[in-house]
Amino acid sequence: MTTTTPLLQVRDLRVQIGERTVLQSVSLNVPAGSLAVLMGANGSGKSTLGMALAGHPSYHVTGGQALLAGQDLLPLAAHERARAGLFVSFQSPPDIPGVKNNLFIRTALNAVHEARGEQPLDAFDFLASAKQSAKELGLPETLLARPVNEGFSGGERKRNELLQLALLQPRVALLDEIDSGLDVDGVRAVVGLVQRLRAQGTGFVVVSHYLTMIEQLEPDAVLRLDQGRIAETGGMELARGIARTGFVRPREAVEA
Ligand SMILES: Nc1ncnc2c1ncn2[C@@H]1O[C@H](COP(=O)(O)OP(=O)(O)OP(=O)(O)O)[C@@H](O)[C@H]1O
Ligand SMILES: [Mg+2]
Repeated sequence: MTTTTPLLQVRDLRVQIGERTVLQSVSLNVPAGSLAVLMGANGSGKSTLGMALAGHPSYHVTGGQALLAGQDLLPLAAHERARAGLFVSFQSPPDIPGVKNNLFIRTALNAVHEARGEQPLDAFDFLASAKQSAKELGLPETLLARPVNEGFSGGERKRNELLQLALLQPRVALLDEIDSGLDVDGVRAVVGLVQRLRAQGTGFVVVSHYLTMIEQLEPDAVLRLDQGRIAETGGMELARGIARTGFVRPREAVEA
């Protein structure tokens, strides 16, 4: 399902970390049900875009706009952006020692339910649906009872991000290198979940360096970030061109 009204509208976003401006002017539109793949060399600012949109305090937005379903995200705190329907996965999901995974996810889910005017889930109902989603994502359900990400393998951390995505069902999701560290079944699980949510109207920005998953995701657009802006926009041919020749792009390709 793809509509033309953008769910997420980012206009001329300028982001500074400390003294350094990492994003100069980034603009992109994410319509409901659409998927854009964001590519760019290491250090080009892909994760910075995710962190700035999520409201991480170290990433200072010094210009531009970000609207989610017409609502200005920038004055909102990180938790308010999540309640408004934004989900940003971590490239390197951190540990949260002492906080049980199931309690963490249930608290987030119920905050989102409350914001949508839905009933909170009790511990019993939550656990049933979390176990079901964990099974679909190939995540051992014993990880629900452990502290968030503590001692999780690289792939388990990524699957745990997917579990949150599956349960929270956001309006817009930015997935940051969700495929790195995932085995083939994990990549298949990402594609299945993303396509299911997309059919329900969730809009996606997916950061990835690898064609394997990008091909399967059937993106509506492929964007290349360079010098703090979207330097190129295209389709799968852009992703294939980058895979073939790298990020040093021939002038003809950029101008085409
Ligand atoms: N918290 C931070 N403090 C200082 N510098 C930062 C911070 N976060 C990012 N940077 C710098 O900003 C630049 C962009 O980093 P970012 O993580 O957004 O790149 P990326 O495109 O996601 O790269 P990769 O493909 O390696 O994940 C890098 O030069 C990085 O060192
Ligand atoms: Mg990154």
